[in-house]
Amino acid sequence: MVGTSRALRTSREVRETVGEPFHEDPRMTCRNVDVFYGDKQALRNISLDIGRNQVIAMIGPSGCGKSTFLRCLNRMNDTIEGCRVTGRITLDGKDIYDKSVDVVSLRAQVGMVFQKPNPFPKSIYENVAYGPKIHGLAETRRELDEIVETSLRKAGLWDEVKDRLQEPGTSLSGGQQQRLCIARTIAVSPEVILMDEPCSALDPIATAVIEDLIDELKQQYSIAIVTHSMQQASRVSQRTAFFHLGDLIEVGPTAVIFTNPRHELTEDYITGRFG
Ligand SMILES: Nc1ncnc2c1ncn2[C@@H]1O[C@H](COP(=O)(O)OP(=O)(O)OP(=O)(O)O)[C@@H](O)[C@H]1O
Ligand SMILES: [Mg+2]
Repeated sequence: MVGTSRALRTSREVRETVGEPFHEDPRMTCRNVDVFYGDKQALRNISLDIGRNQVIAMIGPSGCGKSTFLRCLNRMNDTIEGCRVTGRITLDGKDIYDKSVDVVSLRAQVGMVFQKPNPFPKSIYENVAYGPKIHGLAETRRELDEIVETSLRKAGLWDEVKDRLQEPGTSLSGGQQQRLCIARTIAVSPEVILMDEPCSALDPIATAVIEDLIDELKQQYSIAIVTHSMQQASRVSQRTAFFHLGDLIEVGPTAVIFTNPRHELTEDYITGRFG
């Protein structure tokens, strides 16, 4: 699949990524990924690794392709009419676009948390239990109870909800709902968690709770987070990737990107000259 889109590119040349897009211990790898919506190219020749047990932040101005990139990693772009992805993306060395891949299990392995908390219109318990049930992860009610409790604990929500598991998920506060969505993602034993601006609907206190949680979760999972907040990127991530108009401009250790970027566009963005 690699390289088929080169002829379709319009006037502008692909810009080479500077910095360190590759990782010594990648959980996922992307090579020469192009994404089109119809005739319009949204991402150009993206090569980037998602490291194991660490957080990578995706930053860049609105419309640069951050969400599009995240959706490549669990094939959510498949659900968008007219969207086409080329290139090679692997999870633990296996091509996730291979015909043999079951997309439903892929999306459990590479879970996603969205901008707006979106619990199902069901109880707190059912929100977390639903995934393990459909993926056959529990044989007995007791096993299911255990998965629900462990997932809610890992999401830092157990103490707040243990006495109200049968209440609707939507009865929780925004920050609690987002942690419920994280618990729901964790419940199906993912390897990678994708988060698309997970705190943008939350107040600073709820945001701090989620940021602490992300820090905890990286011990067990690999995390890719899109954020518009550079403070958040610096607080939670070890690596940062800067996108601009569909190109991946620069990738590097977060401290380097925010203090000593190599590319002029990165520097302009982090110093607030545009975006
Ligand atoms: N479903 C879609 N159909 C057609 N074009 C789309 C679709 N989704 C995104 N695009 C286009 O692809 C480009 C990248 O969009 P994307 O949503 O990935 O950007 P983003 O970096 O996540 O932006 P934001 O920070 O505003 O969320 C934009 O030009 C956008 O208009
Ligand atoms: Mg987006």
